[in-house]
This record gives sequence, C-alpha cells and structure tokens, in this order.
Amino acid sequence: MTVINAEGLSGTQALGKRIADALHGTEVIAFFGGLGMGKTTLTRAIAEALGCSDDVSSPTFAIVNEYSARFKLYHFDMYRITSWDDLYSTGFFDYLDTGVLIIEWSENIENALPENTVRITILPGKTENDRIFEIEGLDL
Ligand SMILES: Nc1ncnc2c1ncn2[C@@H]1O[C@H](COP(=O)(O)OP(=O)(O)OP(=O)(O)O)[C@@H](O)[C@H]1O
Ligand SMILES: [Mg+2]
Repeated sequence: MTVINAEGLSGTQALGKRIADALHGTEVIAFFGGLGMGKTTLTRAIAEALGCSDDVSSPTFAIVNEYSARFKLYHFDMYRITSWDDLYSTGFFDYLDTGVLIIEWSENIENALPENTVRITILPGKTENDRIFEIEGLDL
C-alpha cells in the first residue's frame, strides 16, 4: 500500500497526475471515503492528466459519466445503488475491460469489485484542505 499525504488541492492534483501516469487503460479504481472527502476532485485530476477536456462532475443522477481521454473513462457514482439488480442496470459489468472505471461510493458494490481493483481510501488530513490517500493495487 502507498500512503500519500496530499497538502491542499495542488497535492490532490499532483496525485491525479501520478495515478494517470501509472494506468494502462482497463483498471477499476474504487474510491472509499465519506461525503466530500475528494473523490470527484481526484477523478477530475486523473481525467485532466489523461488529456480529458470535458467537465468532470459528479454522476449522481446519471450514475455513470463517460469521458474520452488517453483512455475511455467511466465515472460511476454508486451512492444510490443498493442491489445487484441496480448494479446490472448501470452497465457496470459491460464496461469492465473496455476502459478505466472510476467508482465513487464503492462501499455499496464492494462484493462486485474485480480481484485486481485499485483501492483508494481517502481520509482527513492535518488541516481542512489536507487529505490522506491510501492506495492499494497500483504501482505508482
Ligand atoms: N486536498 C484536497 N483534495 C480534495 N478535495 C479537497 C482538498 N482540500 C479541500 N478539498 C475540498 O473538498 C471538497 C471535495 O469535494 P468532492 O466533490 O471532490 O468530494 P466527493 O468525495 O466526491 O463528495 P461526494 O461524497 O459528495 O461525492 C471540495 O469542495 C474540495 O475543494
Ligand atoms: Mg463525488
């Protein structure tokens, strides 16, 4: 596991670039961490570092947003997903291996995550603008 102390938004931005540079194109990245910890912010940083020029926002209502960058990016918000039927209806299983999947609220689909999922847990840091990122399953 790699532990990164991100100081401020620029720290999260830099981490996004580091993660983007380590990706091959079909990873599943599962975020863990409560409300407002920075899941969407880090997703935006990864997408930008991959050359995505679209606006990256939370897919709360759409459940999945699709972006074109160096790879296809599928950005999921599983906040409202509470059953296997719900999960099937998002197309989650069809998207696997076709691009990079980035998943907010992975807690809700933990049993469905592939074995080689990259797990990123976000914890509060020393100040309001600092975050601790625990990253498993990706060589940075
Ligand atoms: N170092 C930091 N990294 C990420 N976000 C930060 C940092 N410092 C402050 N913030 C702020 O924390 C908030 C994170 O919001 P964001 O929408 O990214 O979180 P989220 O985990 O996706 O929330 P939700 O649970 O609603 O999906 C933003 O307002 C952002 O500006
Ligand atoms: Mg979010």
